[in-house]
Amino acid sequence: MQTYDMPLPERCVMPGITVVGSGSFAPGEPVPNKALMRVMDTNDEWIRRRTGIEQRHFAGEGQGASDLALEAAKRAIDSAGLTPADIDYIIFCTMTPDYLFPGSGGLLGAKLGIHGVPALDIRQQCAAMPFAFQVADGLCMSGAAQNILVVGAEAHAGFMPWDDWDVVLGKKDGDIPADVHERATRHRGLAVIFGDGAGALVMRRTETEGHGLIGSELHTDGDLYDKIYIEGGGFRRRPYWNDDMFSQELHIPSMDGRDLFRHAVTKLPEVVRSLCDKHGVSLDDIDFFLPHQANDRINQHVAKSLKIPPEKVASNIAKYGNTSGATIPILFDEVYREGKVKRGDLLCFIALGAGLHWGASLMRL
Ligand code: UT7
Repeated sequence: MQTYDMPLPERCVMPGITVVGSGSFAPGEPVPNKALMRVMDTNDEWIRRRTGIEQRHFAGEGQGASDLALEAAKRAIDSAGLTPADIDYIIFCTMTPDYLFPGSGGLLGAKLGIHGVPALDIRQQCAAMPFAFQVADGLCMSGAAQNILVVGAEAHAGFMPWDDWDVVLGKKDGDIPADVHERATRHRGLAVIFGDGAGALVMRRTETEGHGLIGSELHTDGDLYDKIYIEGGGFRRRPYWNDDMFSQELHIPSMDGRDLFRHAVTKLPEVVRSLCDKHGVSLDDIDFFLPHQANDRINQHVAKSLKIPPEKVASNIAKYGNTSGATIPILFDEVYREGKVKRGDLLCFIALGAGLHWGASLMRL
C-alpha cells in the first residue's frame, strides 16, 4: 500500500495540486447502440439495461490517441488561461497508444509545439487518473514542474472485433459474412462497452491552504493481469507479432467481465473507505464522486455500498461508454463546465482497470 513518508497532519496542510483548466474531445458522430446490431448479435435494450450505455464515439482511421489528446489539451490549456509554452511536463495516460513505442506523450508535446518538454506515459489503463494525480503532485512538490498537462486519451477502435466500419457507421448496407458476425458476437461484452475520446487537465500546486490533492490510495495486483489484457503482440515472443496471433484473435482484448465487475464492486468501496479514514474525511464531507465509467451498474453498487446518494455520483457513460484512461478527465471537464462541481468542493475520484490497478484520490478543488 502506498503512503506518504511525511506525517499525515503536516502533509494535510501543505497545499497539493489542483485542476486549473480542463478540456475534452470526442471524435466523429455518436454511434448509437443499434448501430452495433449491424455487425453482431446484440440489442439496444440489453446494452442500456446491463451497462447504462446509449452511444459511444470512435476514432477514425489514422486518428491516434495523441490526435484526440491534442484537441482536449488545447481546450484545457486555453481554459487555464495559459498557452502551450507554459506547460512544463506532460503525463499521458493511455492503453491504446499511437505506437507500441515510443509513447504518445512525446507525440502530443510535438503536436502542441512544445519540443523538449518532458513527457511521461503511464500505463494504468482505466485506473490511470488516481495514479497520474499522485505522480503530478510529487513532481510539483519536488519542484520538477509547475504546470502539468495530465491527459487521458483512447482510440479503442483499433481492437473492435469487426472489419467493415462503413456498415457499423451506417455509410453502407451490406451482409456481414457469418464468420465475421460470429467473431464480433463472441467479443460483444467487450465491444459494446468501449468508446473513444480524450480528456485533459492542467494541474498545478494551489496557493490555498487545505486545498488541492489531499491524498491517493493506490493498489496493484499483477496476479489479476489476465482479467482484461491483450495477449497478442508482446515482446516475450519472437517475433513480437505474427499472423497466428491475428487469426487467433489475440489482438482483441480478452476480458472476464463478470469477475472484473466483482472486483470493482468489492475493491472500490474498500479503497474509498480506507482513504477517507486515513485522512480523517467522512463520506458525508465529500461533495461529489467522480468514478471511472466502466458500467453504470458498477457505480450504482459502489454508491449503495458506501451509502452515497446517487445525485452525488457523476455519470456520463450513456454518452461515451467506457473511455478507459480518458474517462475521468472527460467527466471532470463536463461536471465542472456544467457547474455541478465548483471551487472549494471536496472531490473523490475512484477507478479500477487492467493490471489490475485500482485506487482513489481526494482533492479539494
Ligand atoms: O474498465 C475496464 C474493465 N472492464 C470492466 O470493468 C467490465 C466489467 N464488466 C461488465 O461491465 C459486464 O460484465 C459486461 C457488460 C461486460 C457484461 O455484462 P454481464 O451482465 O456481466 O453479462 P454476462 O457476461 O454475465 O452475460 C449475461 C448474458 C449472457 O447470455 P446467457 O449466457 O445468459 O444467455 C451473454 O451472452 O448476456 C449475454 N450478453 C449479451 N447479450 C446482448 C453478453 N454481452 C451481450 C451483449 N448483447 N453485448
